[in-house]
Amino acid sequence: MVQKRYFSLLLRLIGRAILFVVFCSITALHAQENITTNDKIFSKQQAKIGASLYKNNCLICHDKKYFRPVFKAWGGQSLGTFYLVMSSSMPESNPGSLSQQEYVDILAYILSLNRYSSGEDVLLPSTEILNKITISARKK
Ligand code: HEC
Repeated sequence: MVQKRYFSLLLRLIGRAILFVVFCSITALHAQENITTNDKIFSKQQAKIGASLYKNNCLICHDKKYFRPVFKAWGGQSLGTFYLVMSSSMPESNPGSLSQQEYVDILAYILSLNRYSSGEDVLLPSTEILNKITISARKK
């Protein structure tokens, strides 16, 4: 009798544990999907590398203020789409001429130009990751 009661108690505990794990992973997945350009997605060092690439490849046509209104217009869209546009069609004079790493470093610089905060993470040239990041208005 006593054994049976412990057994059902154990089952209930296991059930709760499973529910807890499922709940946590759903929450984690959800959190991952809500990354925005405000989440310190690039490092200062990366933006620095991007700055010299930008100077050599983009500055003749786009001054440093160019991307402020552009980012406003892109608000709510994925950074992956923005990356795809710039890496496949720019520089206009020689589209796609830089490496994916160089484009993503330039993107980090553009984010710093728009005064988004940098952090420890480095932005990777992965469309899968970039597609999960939403362009949103800078948090002040
Ligand atoms: C020879 C001139 C030229 C160079 C060099 C150039 N661009 Fe462009 N870029 C343009 C033109 C022209 C447009 C489209 C017209 C516009 O919106 O100003 C454009 C548009 C863009 C857009 C789309 C903006 C939007 O409104 O959606 C991005 C992003 C971009 N350029 C990034 C870059 C980057 C990054 C570089 C350097 C790797 C670069 N461009 C180099 C001429 C240039």
